[in-house]
Amino acid sequence: MSVLLALALGYLLGSVPWGLLLTRASGLGDIRSIGSGNIGATNVLRTGNKTLAAATLALDILKGVAALALAQALWGETAGLLAGFGAMLGHAFPVWLGFKGGKGVATGGGVLLAAGWWLGLGAALVWLVMALVTRISSASALAACAAAPAIAAMAGRWDLAAFSAGIALLVAWRHKANIKRLLAGTEPRIGRKG
Ligand code: G3P
Repeated sequence: MSVLLALALGYLLGSVPWGLLLTRASGLGDIRSIGSGNIGATNVLRTGNKTLAAATLALDILKGVAALALAQALWGETAGLLAGFGAMLGHAFPVWLGFKGGKGVATGGGVLLAAGWWLGLGAALVWLVMALVTRISSASALAACAAAPAIAAMAGRWDLAAFSAGIALLVAWRHKANIKRLLAGTEPRIGRKG
């Protein structure tokens, strides 16, 4: 029973589309009709509002942290991981938006951070270095996702290696359009519209 409750709790927390709510509340319209159409912080930044983008990033990270930490406190470690994955599903496929949600980078970062601070920080560091080098958010996210299972494996945490590999696969799947643009050399740099 706690397995289902953990998944449901994670899904519900993850399904709150902060980027969409914040941009709408600020009178910027529907973020889904701007830039890449994604509801995440990278696309919110394309509105030109850095504060809103930072708030989206923070809240999307926080919902990942909250899902895992809350379920772990209530039902234990395995339930925490399930809720973390539930949060990823909620963010990527929110019932409120016809199951068309975000790409799960910030939420995944929050989930990894709550699973092991060193894992979240390690993945964030890879994101940061890649972002400084490439200035491309999606490429940085894909690199961080690829690094996370390797970081967990190096720490001998095979459970977290498998878990972060699952997260990485979901994030990569949600980046299909970005991968096509990366291969075509048309993916925009951070902050640019196209
Ligand atoms: O965090 C999402 C990022 O990796 C890509 O966002 O808007 O460029 O598709 P976007």
